[in-house]
Amino acid sequence: MDAFAYRDGRYHAENVAIRRIADAVGTPFYCYSRTAIEARYDALAESLKGLDALVCYAVKANSNQALIRLLADRGAGADVVSEGELRRALLAGIPASKIVFSGVAKTLREIEFALAQDIRHFNVESEQELHAISATAVRLDKTARVAFRINPDIDAGTHEKISTGKSENKFGIAVTRVESVYRQALELPGIEVCGVDLHIGSQIMTLGPFEAAYSRVAELAQALRDAGHGISTIDLGGGLGIDYDEEHTAPSVADYAAVVEKTVGHLSCKIIVEPGRWLVGNAGVLVGRVIYTKSNGSTNFLIIDAAMNDFLRPSMYDAHHTIVGEQSSAAPEKLYDIVGPVCETGDTFARKRKLPAMEPGELIVIEGAGAYGSVMASSYNTRPLVPEVLVDGDEFGIIRERPDYDSIIALDIPWTATR
Ligand code: LLP
Repeated sequence: MDAFAYRDGRYHAENVAIRRIADAVGTPFYCYSRTAIEARYDALAESLKGLDALVCYAVKANSNQALIRLLADRGAGADVVSEGELRRALLAGIPASKIVFSGVAKTLREIEFALAQDIRHFNVESEQELHAISATAVRLDKTARVAFRINPDIDAGTHEKISTGKSENKFGIAVTRVESVYRQALELPGIEVCGVDLHIGSQIMTLGPFEAAYSRVAELAQALRDAGHGISTIDLGGGLGIDYDEEHTAPSVADYAAVVEKTVGHLSCKIIVEPGRWLVGNAGVLVGRVIYTKSNGSTNFLIIDAAMNDFLRPSMYDAHHTIVGEQSSAAPEKLYDIVGPVCETGDTFARKRKLPAMEPGELIVIEGAGAYGSVMASSYNTRPLVPEVLVDGDEFGIIRERPDYDSIIALDIPWTATR
């Protein structure tokens, strides 16, 4: 069953008509399907089951506690990139032994907190970071397990803003520096090298870049082993793309797993994958309501109550998302620019989309909004962060409340002098 679909003339999330939730919660809101998330996790785990693999959910894709908890209950680990995400993963029940800490620059405070929790390992991105981790580990009388993120200089063939594996990107350690960095690590106190890591980008729609990068990392792992380094873990990052529309088809997870097996399977390592989008992207939608419609010359605008601050992907990456309207009556189709109320032309979800003519008050659904939706929201224009709802069968529950205006404004405090 498709988690989100029209049935009996009503748009449904699992067995709940989206209109019921809109009436109870108000719009806009994010809506997620428990069944969809669990099915994705199970499919991935099943594809990887011949390997000694750990799925570390990239919490950045959607860090709602209820969703992390669903994955924790299924045995997932977590890939975190900040102290905040680490705290979320731990609170949602993911054991520290299944948490890896990635990110291009961890602060001393973050390193200290992660060491105190005894996380699985750090994915280290620079020599200075390595030294900071060593010094902190010594100070706390701990040993930090580390893998180094390699920058394999491979083009993931995705949007430039989410491409991370080319040498001009800020991420990882250049292949030419790898040998020297691992040698330094051997000598540093408080450091135990456990593996290699990479992440070449996100929303990757072909397997070629994965195959090239994973092969490169496998060669490196072998060379490092030959040089006496303890390489027991290969962290392959995330990045597997999803279908946002009918024209583009992402590789199947089984084919992806076959690439993993073929490229790094022979190394007898613990294999970590860090999917974010693949697990939750198509398990969520953003539901808004039409406020007004209007035409400026030849363009028809559908102005809805969700905006770029609630869902940034279309304005930030020109991302295409399927958008469906829930009309109360069958109406002839019209071409619409679907926009929010924020005072920027970039506050546009889609241009020239064909939808049956819509009226103020009708619901509009932006699909594929489960990943990098709510987590990238802001309260720009003093718009409250959008609430989140989780559906399970014919039940739904709020998993994040809409804040009230007083609590938003109360974050600002009157100026007092500090000398
Ligand atoms: N691991 C690391 C180290 C990452 O930086 C990321 C994503 C992931 C895993 C998960 O990647 P995924 O499986 O979700 O592709 N906001 C952008 C996406 C940014 C991705 C950042 N890193 C978007 O909306 O497209």
